[in-house]
Amino acid sequence: FPSFGYQNSGLCSESVQLDFIARKFGTPCYVYSRAALVAAYQEFDAAFAGRDHLVCYAVKANSSLAILNLFARLGSGFDIVSGGELRRVLKAGGDPQKIVFSGVGKQPDEMRAALAIDILCFNVESEAELQVLNQVAGEMNKIAPVSLRVNPDVDAKTHPYISTGLKENKFGIPFDEAESLYASSRDFSNVRVTGLDCHIGSQLTELAPFIEACRKMLGLLDRLQTQGLQIDHLDLGGGLGIRYSAENPPLVGQYVDALRACVGQRKQRILIEPGRALVGNAGILLTRVEYLKHTGDKNFAIVDAAMNDLMRPALYDAYHEILPVNVKNDGGIKTYQVVGPVCETGDFLGHDRDLALSQGDLLAIMSVGAYGMSMSSNYNTRPRAAEVMVDGDQVHLIRERESMEQLMAGEKILP
Ligand code: LLP
Repeated sequence: FPSFGYQNSGLCSESVQLDFIARKFGTPCYVYSRAALVAAYQEFDAAFAGRDHLVCYAVKANSSLAILNLFARLGSGFDIVSGGELRRVLKAGGDPQKIVFSGVGKQPDEMRAALAIDILCFNVESEAELQVLNQVAGEMNKIAPVSLRVNPDVDAKTHPYISTGLKENKFGIPFDEAESLYASSRDFSNVRVTGLDCHIGSQLTELAPFIEACRKMLGLLDRLQTQGLQIDHLDLGGGLGIRYSAENPPLVGQYVDALRACVGQRKQRILIEPGRALVGNAGILLTRVEYLKHTGDKNFAIVDAAMNDLMRPALYDAYHEILPVNVKNDGGIKTYQVVGPVCETGDFLGHDRDLALSQGDLLAIMSVGAYGMSMSSNYNTRPRAAEVMVDGDQVHLIRERESMEQLMAGEKILP
């Protein structure tokens, strides 16, 4: 875990003890490392050196304004999927000309907002959407820049809930229909085709599916060009996996090199939309053990973070490493079920973890920078956790713990 490690038996983020953060900001608390975020972005960007490219951070992975702002300062582009994400990117100082807009269900008002600021491209996922976009753009006297998101029908070999590039998935335009839709896009006077897009899934741990998808897209690209369509960019989506435990995903350099080699001498600008690989291992969730409970069968560590804070274990049976913030050498290791206070059996953060625990101990749930806070909820009327960012020996609060007032604001009872 870059930027998270032990110093004198206390777990630190950069040079700040997590113990100190828990005392100062309370728990549960998301902790991000600025150095880890910057390093991850720069690794992608550097791998493309010498080639026209744009790294478009997939905002859904973590839409914290502070994180978006850090990436914007580094020159990042953004992949958004809603009007809300658009607002966030603008508020964080993102450049509209570096925004691509994905998603199967864009609404007319979201299209209007994006057209008004002249985003780089709409990744259109159906013919019906193309028609609506054409109409909305027409009403605004604009020409919408468009890529068709094509579904290359490639098996990403990942969890079925996060696999998107198979023909049975709801995403993208079927590969066989893409050419004819590109051809008929000429009949729409307020859209202009500028690119070609795909995204095959998330948490991919092998290169082969990326290459297969890329080859298919290049075949299509070449055919479209023969037909006289001018394609300026090729968006290859996100999906590069990270290491949660024993996975061995390709390194960023290997992944980018493979894409570069595949695209070869073609002049198109390459876009990618990484989310998890940029932020996943740059964040942890800090939680405190409330109670230990030993039943005949199991040892439970009931902590103050829950499935509402981190949904991935409950939703995908995802594995996240759980580390003690302060290492003890006095033995007493037991196999624990690390669970939250929410009233669901699915509310767990980790099963069968060997830990030496006492009431009040702090734990760090690792690799939660992506799809952690951004998928959190208020289930059980639990306020959302605080978020902090470590920068060297400094800690900055980047989101206050939600208050009960905020949580209930907007609700009304009948007269
Ligand atoms: N581009 C598009 C069009 C996407 O749908 C996604 C993710 C990405 C880029 C970024 O993919 P990444 O590089 O992060 O793999 N909640 C799930 C992951 C859902 C991914 C959805 N789409 C999880 O916690 O594993």
